[in-house]
Amino acid sequence: MLTERDAPRGNLDNRLIVVLGYGNQGRPQALNLRDSGYNVAVAARPGGAAGETAESDGFEVMDVRKGAAEAQILMCLLPDEVQGQVYKDDIAANLRHGSAICFAHGFAVTFGQIDAEFYDLIMVAPKGQGGALRSAYVEGSGLPCLIAVEHDHSGGARRIALSIANGLGCLRVGAFETTFREEALSDLFGEQAILVGGVPALIKEAFDILVEKGFNPEVAYFECMHELKIIVDLFTVHGIAGMREVISGTAAYGGLKYGEKLVTPGTAGEMRKMFDRIESGEFAREWLEETAGGKQELRAMIEKEKDLKIEEAGRDVRKLFARHLSGKKHGGKR
Ligand SMILES: NC(=O)c1ccc[n+]([C@@H]2O[C@H](COP(=O)([O-])OP(=O)(O)OC[C@H]3O[C@@H](n4cnc5c(N)ncnc54)[C@H](OP(=O)(O)O)[C@@H]3O)[C@@H](O)[C@H]2O)c1
Repeated sequence: MLTERDAPRGNLDNRLIVVLGYGNQGRPQALNLRDSGYNVAVAARPGGAAGETAESDGFEVMDVRKGAAEAQILMCLLPDEVQGQVYKDDIAANLRHGSAICFAHGFAVTFGQIDAEFYDLIMVAPKGQGGALRSAYVEGSGLPCLIAVEHDHSGGARRIALSIANGLGCLRVGAFETTFREEALSDLFGEQAILVGGVPALIKEAFDILVEKGFNPEVAYFECMHELKIIVDLFTVHGIAGMREVISGTAAYGGLKYGEKLVTPGTAGEMRKMFDRIESGEFAREWLEETAGGKQELRAMIEKEKDLKIEEAGRDVRKLFARHLSGKKHGGKR
């Protein structure tokens, strides 16, 4: 693990860092780098909210082409699905050879959206949302991150990545080295199989079964959804086996003996297909096509989910408990 001890000294010799994309990651990254003493400006499209917010945060704001032309390090913090198009339209013809492009996720490079042989291609991917990156930095800590070098045109690409990770506050905690491909494939697989795919699908199915059996939706919501956070906190503090030590014997026995049966050869087969779809680039192609077509399928799926009974029950329960739900940590026996 790399820490502050491994960081190059100084602030990249005052080289100009242009942050392109002032959203979830862009704003916190720009603020952290500036507070760490780096020379930071922002590039934004005319008329967007990003430019206005960056200006009111006191940054010099330029349009995307000028930002690319001025940048010595371009932080590409646009949504993944538009990076390729913006690169083709506004960056490729303007970015000076020898500059660095720094990404927070390996998607665009791994799936062939950006092919930049004349630049350093580096990645500093904080492991968490931008809000957490900023609040941890302000509190004197940081988020861990992954760093990678895809192309080292200048001979100093790794030093730049380490220096950016340091300026973001990530080296206060630690960085692991990876490759763009490893980060992109594992990130997409983790999202789909577990974080925002597999886990929500399990919750929805289990909730529906309890309601179908006549249980009160609020009770079903507590059992299948609300208590998950308590258990996830235990996973992260104690590990999976350690979690079993602090829950009741009844829960440990039932979970291990019968919960495990849910992952049938069919489920495992679907997971492997999911991985193959990501690895072959099929998922990236599908997502870029969906983006080009106006994201209608995504919008329809989001709307459909909002109408589910679990969402209705959840809205009611969360209203009643709003005061007690703000990121509170739990632990101990179930
Ligand atoms: N979100 C996370 O938790 C997270 C965590 C780790 C890594 N990442 C990575 O960080 C990168 C940025 O993601 P994000 O979630 O921060 O994105 P985001 O919040 O959706 O940010 C979008 C920003 O990009 C600008 N933008 C969108 N389309 C544009 C275009 N065509 N031309 C110019 N500007 C455009 C928007 O400006 P306007 O105001 O003009 O619309 C906005 O400032 C991605 O690579 C993502 O994978 C995200």
